[in-house]
Amino acid sequence: MRKKIVAGNWKMNTLPAEGVELAKGVVAGRGEVCSCVNFIVCPPFTHLAMVAEALKGSDIELGAQNCAAEAKGAYTGEVAASMIAALGCKYVILGHSERRQYYGETSATLNKKMEQAYANGLTPIYCVGENLDEREAGKHFDVVKAQIEEVVYNLSEEQFKNLVIAYEPVWAIGTGKTATADQAQEIHAYIRKVLAEKFGAAAAECPILYGGSCKPANAAEIFAKEDVDGGLIGGAALKAEDFLAIGKGFQK
Ligand code: 13P
Repeated sequence: MRKKIVAGNWKMNTLPAEGVELAKGVVAGRGEVCSCVNFIVCPPFTHLAMVAEALKGSDIELGAQNCAAEAKGAYTGEVAASMIAALGCKYVILGHSERRQYYGETSATLNKKMEQAYANGLTPIYCVGENLDEREAGKHFDVVKAQIEEVVYNLSEEQFKNLVIAYEPVWAIGTGKTATADQAQEIHAYIRKVLAEKFGAAAAECPILYGGSCKPANAAEIFAKEDVDGGLIGGAALKAEDFLAIGKGFQK
């Protein structure tokens, strides 16, 4: 049985006090959603300690949106994986398309970040996904395959057991345009096949989340698909009610 996960990527939104309120709202309503759903919230770095406090006593887990490629030292402005782990993070989002696109993150950087994450006991939520041109040119399978081969294939079998993949088509992020449930299933199944080529049967246990304009109105249909194990939610994670309603999309 694969884990069912609904993770909120808050991106660069909310002030710390607003983030605490949001986290408290999720905690307050969590009981309305199946305990089979694993909720994760990923606030900005600046909010992690306060949000960790707000989540105390609940089963909602904490993640960060990024970590440094190096362990420590003279890297002004960077935040080490050890630091976010010390604040209570269990997860770290790596390779989000916004980081690839705006901050030039390459597979080489991501390999180092993945190592840092594992060295500090964090589970990476590794993001893959094609942009609109690539989708229209029919290259989406090749794009996600390369993103997996260049990074995930470097993991050990042990590390692979602690990995979450998020498929996020760039054309669906923040655009209101969602992949159809069939499009999601098609590429999730493909991703699982690519994972199985390297890791064999363990690929059947790897949660693969869908991300990109996922909301209460479309979550259930997407999550009902065989190879979709939940969602990585942006905009709709900023309202506790919507985030929880997405969790209610699990009917399997
Ligand atoms: P939206 O849900 O706002 O489209 O963002 C998706 C995303 O990028 C989550 O990481």
